[in-house]
Amino acid sequence: MFNGISLVIYLDHNATTPVLQEVREAMLPYLSDEWGNPSSSYRFGSRMKSRVEEAREQVAGLIGCKMPREIVFTSGGTESNNTAIHAAIMAQPDKRHIITSQVEHSSVLTYCGYLERHHGYRVTYLPVNQEGLLSLVDLESALGDDVALVSLMWANNETGVLFPVAAIAELCRGRGVPFHCDAVQAVGKLPVNVRELPVDYLTLSGHKLGVPQGVGAVYVHKKAPFVPYLHGGHQERARRGGTENVPYIIGLGKGAELARKKLPSYDRTVRVIRDELETRVLNSIPNTEINGHAAPRLANTSNITFHGIESEALLLLLDQADICASSGSACLADSPDPSHVIAAMNPGSAARQCVRFSLGLQTGAQDIAKTLESLKQIADTFGGQLS
Ligand SMILES: Cc1ncc(COP(=O)(O)O)c(C=O)c1O
Repeated sequence: MFNGISLVIYLDHNATTPVLQEVREAMLPYLSDEWGNPSSSYRFGSRMKSRVEEAREQVAGLIGCKMPREIVFTSGGTESNNTAIHAAIMAQPDKRHIITSQVEHSSVLTYCGYLERHHGYRVTYLPVNQEGLLSLVDLESALGDDVALVSLMWANNETGVLFPVAAIAELCRGRGVPFHCDAVQAVGKLPVNVRELPVDYLTLSGHKLGVPQGVGAVYVHKKAPFVPYLHGGHQERARRGGTENVPYIIGLGKGAELARKKLPSYDRTVRVIRDELETRVLNSIPNTEINGHAAPRLANTSNITFHGIESEALLLLLDQADICASSGSACLADSPDPSHVIAAMNPGSAARQCVRFSLGLQTGAQDIAKTLESLKQIADTFGGQLS
């Protein structure tokens, strides 16, 4: 059951989340009578400034940031990732080497590829093992004097596998190399505390937190090198030009405040339902495996390979049963290529036969029971193909 759309079982929260009622209510006045430009000198406009600053404090609070001015509002995770990479490399023009991993989100990989092809940067794409984990030894040996930035994600959007970000951050800080963490899938699902994590830049996105698409933020440590990505006015302390998206920023603030409140119970609430799904799939559908099952993982994510069943067909049949899931990143859903994440974990594997289920706090046992029923029917239909 899902938010009044009673027939749809929504198991794709890593792609986007439903807009929370409290968020919508917080935003609505700023889409009608409450408007104005936060940079205006007259009171009618400048009262918006205090609302934006309040939202900045709410976002800072969610990630343990004591200095809200270290938060820069953006249009979302993609812009935040591009901003952080750009900020670090432009501020250190003599350093021409970026370290990232093979399993990052396309907003990191595509920008790094562009910098490689068009601007002569050297990019190291760290490999991962079968469980989706990278080796700190590999990272350490790649960390030469020429490195401008290490950009590694916290939680993988396709598998939920968690990188050891605390150790990565320590390693980078020890070598004096700026560290950017794409924490889009971690924020709101795990405790994220930038006071304890020596990170220079950290990305988050509103639409993973019950906020509409199109707003996000990047935390920028006060001492981190920074050259703006968007050049314009003096907004965001001259770190991001452009009149602020006030209603959405207010929505992000509200979403952050709510996520902070829900965080203490998030893990145990979704984990039990997710584990139930995995156990029942493994027990009742032959030739299935959980990708990254032995690694530390997000509590809400399950990436399952159904050997012998193409994910495209499986997703279509699930859709016909009003079950929303995906084969990986929503940003690449129209791509014919197999998942780069599953392919990196297991080269030559069935990267086209995996489905990601990502749960939310509203996902209930009934949703899982119905999903399992459909999966069993689909598997029976494909039974002949299963070895
Ligand atoms: C890990 C990760 N990074 C970045 C992004 C991009 O965020 P946005 O959709 O806000 O641009 C996503 C979106 O799915 C993501 O999962």
